[in-house]
Amino acid sequence: MTIATLAISNYRSLRDMVLPLGPLTVISGPNGAGKSNLYRALRLLAATVQDGIVAALAREGGMPSILWAGPETISRAMLRGEQPVQGAVRQGPVALRLGFRADDLGYAIDLGLPTPQSRTMFGLDPEIKREVIWHGGSPRGGAVLVDRNGAAVRARDEKGRWQALPQPLRPFESMLTEYADRQAAPEMMAIRQRIRSWRFYDHFRTDHDSPVREPRVGTHTPVLSDDGRDLAAALQTIREIGDAAELERCVDDAFPGSRLDIANQDGRFSLLLRQPGMLRPLRAAELSDGTLRYLLLAAALLSPRPPTLLVLNEPETSLHADLLPALARMIGNATRHSQIVVVSHAARLLAALEQQPDSQSLVLEKQLGQTQILGLDPLDRPPWNWMAR
Ligand SMILES: Nc1ncnc2c1ncn2[C@@H]1O[C@H](COP(=O)(O)OP(=O)(O)OP(=O)(O)O)[C@@H](O)[C@H]1O
Ligand SMILES: [Mg+2]
Repeated sequence: MTIATLAISNYRSLRDMVLPLGPLTVISGPNGAGKSNLYRALRLLAATVQDGIVAALAREGGMPSILWAGPETISRAMLRGEQPVQGAVRQGPVALRLGFRADDLGYAIDLGLPTPQSRTMFGLDPEIKREVIWHGGSPRGGAVLVDRNGAAVRARDEKGRWQALPQPLRPFESMLTEYADRQAAPEMMAIRQRIRSWRFYDHFRTDHDSPVREPRVGTHTPVLSDDGRDLAAALQTIREIGDAAELERCVDDAFPGSRLDIANQDGRFSLLLRQPGMLRPLRAAELSDGTLRYLLLAAALLSPRPPTLLVLNEPETSLHADLLPALARMIGNATRHSQIVVVSHAARLLAALEQQPDSQSLVLEKQLGQTQILGLDPLDRPPWNWMAR
């Protein structure tokens, strides 16, 4: 079920990116190398089943903003600086493509510009042109199991014959969200369920007025929300139905001698941390940004309902260097249940993550505006083919 390969084409600086992913992949690189672009591209892929990829792209400024702004092809002479970077007459269609391949199945989506005859005010919405699910190596011939081309979707039946699915799709609808019918194509359900469980955590807000610091109605919370507002309930859920001992160990690892507690006042939960030297426990409102962020990451990483893929963007933000080894251990342990991608800047976290078993490090760099993987031999690039439009 783990994702072996992730492919992105024409998304901002990721003109042509094929990444090998392992159980724990750590992505780093200098400012502007394309780390956040990679994080956002993964989020977009998740948006196909979560809250709509077309809407997510429109909010980013639509195709004019997100498409690779360089030339369609980059010649060797341009790379060597012998020829200026210039555009040429387009050979292929304008296409933003995202895809991944797991051990068993692959999925790819191809988005393009609206056709001139589609009269609409929603000019920022790209159109979904093609979606494919395949098994094995690449989306070719007999390996293709489900194929969406424009409005039409067809899937193979048990005997391998193509069956057209009723109910044509609109250009802003993904086939993954529109066909909930198990019988139509079990692979569609499998991909949809997998992507649905992907989780992303990016810069928790912990300022004075952050909702993380306020008591909230407590309800079973096996999955910490995006902004961490349900932290106390999520930690209590781990204590009741998750790995309570591991949570205690993680707190003690970072803050020796400290103990976590959850207070309940008329159903409203708040977080308390008992620390050595204090006569009373401190409330969430009184904890430091770094302490809260560490506890938020603990709640995310110890979730009793672990996702298939967990992506952390710069989890080191406002953590003191001394906490980073404890964070790396927590991340390393979470790979027992989830595949993890960490985007990070912090040398000390990178070094500590490299000590974790099964970790793989990818350093991004920019060459003529294009994000590349530093030191990756072209022969080691995982094989990848996009389907033609
Ligand atoms: N449409 C586009 N086409 C090509 N490149 C783009 C496009 N939009 C943004 N970029 C480039 O992407 C880069 C930004 O990448 P990103 O934000 O991923 O960097 P980063 O590695 O996260 O850097 P930092 O460490 O500073 O956060 C910028 O250098 C910008 O030039
Ligand atoms: Mg960034």
